[in-house]
Amino acid sequence: MTKKKRTAVLISGRGSNLAALIEASRAPSYPAEIALVLSNVETAEGLKVAATAAIPSKIISHMTFPAREDFDAAIDAALAEANIDIICEAGFMRIHSDGFVRKWLGRMLNIHPSLLPAFKGIRVHQQALDAGVRISGCTVHFVVPELDSGPIIAQAAVPVFPDDTVATLQQRVLLEEHKLYPAALKQVAEGSVVLREGKVVFLG
Ligand code: GRF
Repeated sequence: MTKKKRTAVLISGRGSNLAALIEASRAPSYPAEIALVLSNVETAEGLKVAATAAIPSKIISHMTFPAREDFDAAIDAALAEANIDIICEAGFMRIHSDGFVRKWLGRMLNIHPSLLPAFKGIRVHQQALDAGVRISGCTVHFVVPELDSGPIIAQAAVPVFPDDTVATLQQRVLLEEHKLYPAALKQVAEGSVVLREGKVVFLG
């Protein structure tokens, strides 16, 4: 097998998608390894997930930088130092500067807990419940400068039941996220999915 793609996971919180990516990457045939975890929040639970798995992690707080660009430059330096090939954002609650996004275009993924382009931004499950949709789900997409708007790599759908709450819907979607994200990263890392002229191309 060719060398595994060195992947950084960017988090701000719980880290359950991080855990799913780490688990998948343990398979010898998986084309990516989680080589670095970056968090902008010192107390992020996901840092414990990284420590348990003995994966190097770094806290870079956005609050210590005067501008978005400076924060992104620090992130970029940490990625370069660890020889990172691919970024997976997993509950990372910061918006990047255009320059950073352009630099990583086609090599930076995000997971969002709705069937995009529906329900971008925050309070996503509440948005779905308020809209009364009968199906929701999750999306893995390439990151572009516009929030939650990048070309879609993969999606999974779940039913929305009449008695659902944010908590029950979130839990149902999260189970799908944990399968979808490793599958999408696999495709990007092995090169069977690429971003070309703003479109996702499947090379098979
Ligand atoms: C997930 O629902 C993800 O889709 C969204 O933020 C949440 C992160 O959860 N972007 P976790 O930190 O991976 O558990």
